[in-house]
Amino acid sequence: MNAPRHFLQFKDFAAEELEHLFRRAAWIKERFKRYERYWPLADRTLVMIFEKASTRTRLSFEAGMQQMGGSAIYMNTRDSQLGRGEPVEDAAQVISRMSDVVMIRTFEQEIIERFAANSRVPVINGLTNEYHPCQILADIFTCIEHRGSIRGKTVAWIGDSNNVCNTWLQAAEVLDFNVHVSTPPGYEVEPERAGLYGTGHFEQFADPMDAARGADLVTTDVWTSMGFEAENEERLRDFADWQVDADMMRVARPEALFMHCLPAHRGEEVTGDVIDGSQSVVWDEAENRLHVQKALLEYLLLGRVEG
Ligand code: CP
Ligand code: NVA
Repeated sequence: MNAPRHFLQFKDFAAEELEHLFRRAAWIKERFKRYERYWPLADRTLVMIFEKASTRTRLSFEAGMQQMGGSAIYMNTRDSQLGRGEPVEDAAQVISRMSDVVMIRTFEQEIIERFAANSRVPVINGLTNEYHPCQILADIFTCIEHRGSIRGKTVAWIGDSNNVCNTWLQAAEVLDFNVHVSTPPGYEVEPERAGLYGTGHFEQFADPMDAARGADLVTTDVWTSMGFEAENEERLRDFADWQVDADMMRVARPEALFMHCLPAHRGEEVTGDVIDGSQSVVWDEAENRLHVQKALLEYLLLGRVEG
């Protein structure tokens, strides 16, 4: 049996494969909008394992699988044996004998890697403490829809150097664009944890205004990610000057977009006028999770389909 292909972090796919996914996502989206049936995954089953909460990830994978003719099964740690200490390696052996593809949202990246190493079927990262590759697939697809190729563009990341930030940084290396990051002191990017090759596609700025200046896209995320709730009070204080507001959007390019993976906290990492304003594409970004993940499922299960 050949080892299955997984999508555990953004750099698991080459630029040329990602470009294929973006083309397929556009094709799949267009047909979906015309209510044209596309059921290439009939009789295929996705198992989704959640160790953390979710709205978008669960909905987009479950709806996407059903819309492609397959089915999706939701599991969480509270009411499965995973929550009672069954080894992840044993769970992977069993779950991958009863399904065709698995999506996991968990804590450490190491957990999903151990699962994948023992899985007979492809494994998709639906968010770990370190990475959120499906989110950045959707974000870049959204950029392409609104502004064309991302190659050579500048993305400003304001706030925490978290899973979403790390994934933007990997994507910049694979797809050849730049990320300007500004975090409070003590929350800087850790290149090794981010899994970077060190190709010089990112720069850190002490002042968030300097990171945003001249950017094609300004993006941020919650100050406290899931799993770090104990640090919330401290983070509220530490991040107070890293809020994306109208002044920050003004120093970016006039046609700059604003993105946020959601859920958002208006009045913390972003002001209401920015996230609900004319430069914001957050609803397209959320919707595109559905379309890019359908392209991802198609690719992992059927290989390179050309339409
Ligand atoms: N952006 C994102 O992954 O949202 P959920 O946590 O709702 O899945
Ligand atoms: N960084 C956030 C993203 C949520 C989709 C978290 O990990 O909680």
